[in-house]
Amino acid sequence: MSDSDSNKVDKKRRRMLIGATAVVGAAGTAAFAAPLLISWMPSERALAAGAPVEVNISKIEPGQLVRVIWRGKPVWFVKRTEEMLKDLASNVPLLRDPDSAVDTQQPPYAKNEVRSRKPEILVLIGICTHLGCSPTYRPEKAPADLGADWKGGWYCPCHGSRFDLAGRVFKNVPAPTNLVVPPYYYKSDDLVLVGEDGGAA
Ligand code: FES
Repeated sequence: MSDSDSNKVDKKRRRMLIGATAVVGAAGTAAFAAPLLISWMPSERALAAGAPVEVNISKIEPGQLVRVIWRGKPVWFVKRTEEMLKDLASNVPLLRDPDSAVDTQQPPYAKNEVRSRKPEILVLIGICTHLGCSPTYRPEKAPADLGADWKGGWYCPCHGSRFDLAGRVFKNVPAPTNLVVPPYYYKSDDLVLVGEDGGAA
């Protein structure tokens, strides 16, 4: 094998190892099994094609957003506080689709007023439904640039679309629909699998 061939192999191997590490970070459950990872973790190709991603949500702080990657897309986990959940109702008159009527934007089990299986944990694909930018998490209330009515949510820096803390789009912005809720289910209280419905879709 020439030097340049072996360089290519080294680089490819490094990329695979980095990919596996990132998945373990997302799963947060496999530290004890690290030596076995290469044999049982899904390959990069399988992940790109849609292999599910396991996420441990036990360490997410109230109000915090945690980001993982599934099918090459950012997926957000937000642990909503009681106050955040209570504020959702006051957004309703300002929203384009407050009842999640557009079925393509969420599985049936997230077609509810909090758009999630368990109220406190919101799971969303972090891609703006206008032209695909990644919106900025703005959980604070009434910041100067977003106005007195702002109760927390996402602001898309590309063309100004706004979404509330259930990923519902506001009226009078370019994004046509709510942010997408991916398929997911709880394997246990702390473990969420993104990419499968657990037979409950
Ligand atoms: S891509 Fe988000 S507003 Fe255009």
